[in-house]
Amino acid sequence: MSSSAAVRAFDADVPNDLEAFWLPYTANRAFKKNPRMIARAKDMFYFTPEGRAVMDGTAGLWCTNAGHNRPPIVEAIQAQAAELDYAPAFQFGHPKAFQLASRIAALAPADLDHVFFTNSGSEAVDTALKIALAYHNVRGHGSRQRLIGRERGYHGTGFGGISVGGIVSNRKMFGSLLAGVDHLPHTYNREQQAFTKGEPEWGAHLADELERIVALHDASTIAAVIVEPMAGSTGVLPPPQGYLKRLRAICDKYGILLIFDEVISGFGRLGHAFAAERYDVVPDMICFAKGVTSGAVPMGGVIARKPIYDAFMDGPEQVIELFHGYTYSGHPLAAAAGLATLDLYRDEDLFARAKALEPVWAEAIHSLKGLPNVLDIRTVGLVGAIDLASKPDAVGARAYAAMDRAFRDENLMIRITGDTIALTPPLIISEAQIGELADKVGRLISSVN
Ligand SMILES: Cc1ncc(COP(=O)(O)O)c(C=O)c1O
Repeated sequence: MSSSAAVRAFDADVPNDLEAFWLPYTANRAFKKNPRMIARAKDMFYFTPEGRAVMDGTAGLWCTNAGHNRPPIVEAIQAQAAELDYAPAFQFGHPKAFQLASRIAALAPADLDHVFFTNSGSEAVDTALKIALAYHNVRGHGSRQRLIGRERGYHGTGFGGISVGGIVSNRKMFGSLLAGVDHLPHTYNREQQAFTKGEPEWGAHLADELERIVALHDASTIAAVIVEPMAGSTGVLPPPQGYLKRLRAICDKYGILLIFDEVISGFGRLGHAFAAERYDVVPDMICFAKGVTSGAVPMGGVIARKPIYDAFMDGPEQVIELFHGYTYSGHPLAAAAGLATLDLYRDEDLFARAKALEPVWAEAIHSLKGLPNVLDIRTVGLVGAIDLASKPDAVGARAYAAMDRAFRDENLMIRITGDTIALTPPLIISEAQIGELADKVGRLISSVN
């Protein structure tokens, strides 16, 4: 640290120095020249430091499903901070982590009934991949080491997650990644699927590519397949009808574990507790995060089927069964926030609400078809994406301009990936607000011609 920087560090009177914070997934220089700053939030809205209300069209980063600063969640966190700030989860426990695990297991389908807590979606993914490898190992099938992801998949930013992930920019700077990873093809085909509401009819056959991968490597080398039931971060790709069932059947045929990364699709986003329920497919593990605490405290986790957990419960009882975990696994504040969040989802029936709103939402977002540069619109649950044509010389510039103008001129937060606009509001959005949001996005699209 330079001496002037050292002085500055102790000088409480130097506000608004934006330099030190290296923002994640952000164009830092553009942001720091003209920041988009948020000071507080309530329900469907953010507020800038000047007090301007900005509608949250993205549930933060797909996480504040119950809306912002809901009193039951706020109060639960406050009370927990006063009662128990921290307790280790290695060899000790506190009641709320067990309560939350039971509640999450009860929401998950079939025998998905054991929960391993992490602090983020990225950690949830790495945890699930490690459990898959270790599961085969403890059963004497240690040759099953390959992990299969999918093109365009997003599984967070850990080395495991980017290895099985399929978003090029997230991978290309970071070396050779995990060895022994292969990828299914992504499921998007604009010619066949453009402007579909819900799951496209075309594309189930793409699951059969797993047969080709098995033929290439042999099933005895493959541990697990991981997919997002609905690919979110790549720009919202709902699964083709029947695709996930086909993937399940092929995994069953060859003894391969199927992992659903439900970090986005969990906790109501698609009108159900988990997408597994919507698509009537039981995976072997579900990764979750985000909506479990409605974004209020970082938390993630993996839900594993009973036979997976049971496979580890062997050997002398005083010996640790799985050498994995995090200092903050099941943190008291996160557990308290999670319990209050699940109560709120239940009391306000928010998953059913998302399902009931799906047709209204789809209608509103698809009404933007025909605006300049709109190449495709996809909707599913309370999720929508609009692909804009890229400017020939500047891929991403059109959507970036839309995101910036949305915040400054339309008082709306949207999310972008490349030239795709993604919309994922809190599940408490009203029908009137859906109309308002669509009107704002329509004006934006017309303005970034
Ligand atoms: C499907 C999926 N998996 C994993 C992650 C990573 O979660 P986190 O950012 O909490 O590490 C995300 C984040 O958006 C996600 O969408």
